[in-house]
Amino acid sequence: MAAPPPDPGDAFQLPSGLHYLNCAYMSPLPRSVEAAGIRGIRRKRVPSRIGSEDFFQECDALRTRFARLVGSGESDRVALLPAVSYGVAVVAKNAGSLQGRNVVVVRDQFPGNVYAWMEAARSDGGELRIVDSPGPSAGHPGRGAGWTQRVLEAVDQDTAVVAMAPVHWTDGTRFDLEAVGHRCREVGALFVVDGTQWVGAAPFSVDRVRPDALICAGYKWLLGPYSLAAGYFGARFDQGIPLEAGWITRAGSRDFASLVNYTDEYAPGAVRYDVGERSNFILVPMLLEALRLVEAWSPERVERHCRGLTDLMARPLAERGFGVEEREWRAPHILGLTLPPEMDGNETRRTLEARRVQVSLRGSAVRVSPYLYNEPSDVEALVEGLMEALEGR
Ligand SMILES: Cc1ncc(COP(=O)(O)O)c(C=O)c1O
Repeated sequence: MAAPPPDPGDAFQLPSGLHYLNCAYMSPLPRSVEAAGIRGIRRKRVPSRIGSEDFFQECDALRTRFARLVGSGESDRVALLPAVSYGVAVVAKNAGSLQGRNVVVVRDQFPGNVYAWMEAARSDGGELRIVDSPGPSAGHPGRGAGWTQRVLEAVDQDTAVVAMAPVHWTDGTRFDLEAVGHRCREVGALFVVDGTQWVGAAPFSVDRVRPDALICAGYKWLLGPYSLAAGYFGARFDQGIPLEAGWITRAGSRDFASLVNYTDEYAPGAVRYDVGERSNFILVPMLLEALRLVEAWSPERVERHCRGLTDLMARPLAERGFGVEEREWRAPHILGLTLPPEMDGNETRRTLEARRVQVSLRGSAVRVSPYLYNEPSDVEALVEGLMEALEGR
């Protein structure tokens, strides 16, 4: 029996006095996730303790947990991947020719969901359509709503793929993915969603968004280790070709004695896209435990808590000239601050670091991303540090 999930206040091991407002960079590892990893390392001391069923059971449990988190009852639609870029490469391999067609992405989105499309468009003679925001920086009136609108307008009958995310990773701008998904279905385009900066931090439903693929790195809002990601693949990928000609992903692979009865048939669903050696006895139990915490604490609770904190910082900073996206169009858990023109990003970050406030500089925005371990005192430290950087310039 697993222990009951800890209170978030006891679950992490951040040093006191550190204002870690950077979960969008990576989450701190919860104690119980660390312990699961250490148990995983020790397991191989005595290999006879690792049975053939162990290559499957925890992977299956992980698929079930991830599927539940994104609102799907179909756990065999989940593949275990080493990175988002790997999942996107799977999709690109199975997207068909882009000749005379286009792929729609958003300006400055995370490169893991861009490079595969850039290359495919280049080699097939297709077009990469980059959708700019309608306003120069966060807080420009109508920018949030207008950005989704521009994405919708960029999609046409020749669109093969729309590749984007629920939230802009640099500045926290939200996109209306339900509307984009609907538009994709109208024209038959594949809808490829990078959920890394959203899933776990706020509710997400594959039934509502209806992506053809949803890929999430595990080490940020899913609280897991580095180098394990999960992907949900819809029915359009049921018969696709994986990147690797794997063996454990084949029909009948549970019977190790019969592995040389080679077969072209894969296990059903998206299991075929699993990375080789996906039954990682260290990383899989870690992510499994991490998702147990995410589920117990609930994305709704994370959303509420982070919304409270980002609202708390948004108002005084907007009043002092920092660009902040309109409330309706900013993510609850990622606040992008456009600095007043006189302020230098690196200088600002150094001032914050001297006060032990950790944030990221992404593009032209200071990105602040709290989690359940943060409190209003972290917001105060951030606001004071930014005021010092502003006034001391
Ligand atoms: C939006 C987004 N997607 C994906 C990643 C990580 O991608 P990968 O797993 O390919 O390294 C990051 C990392 O910062 C990210 O911000």
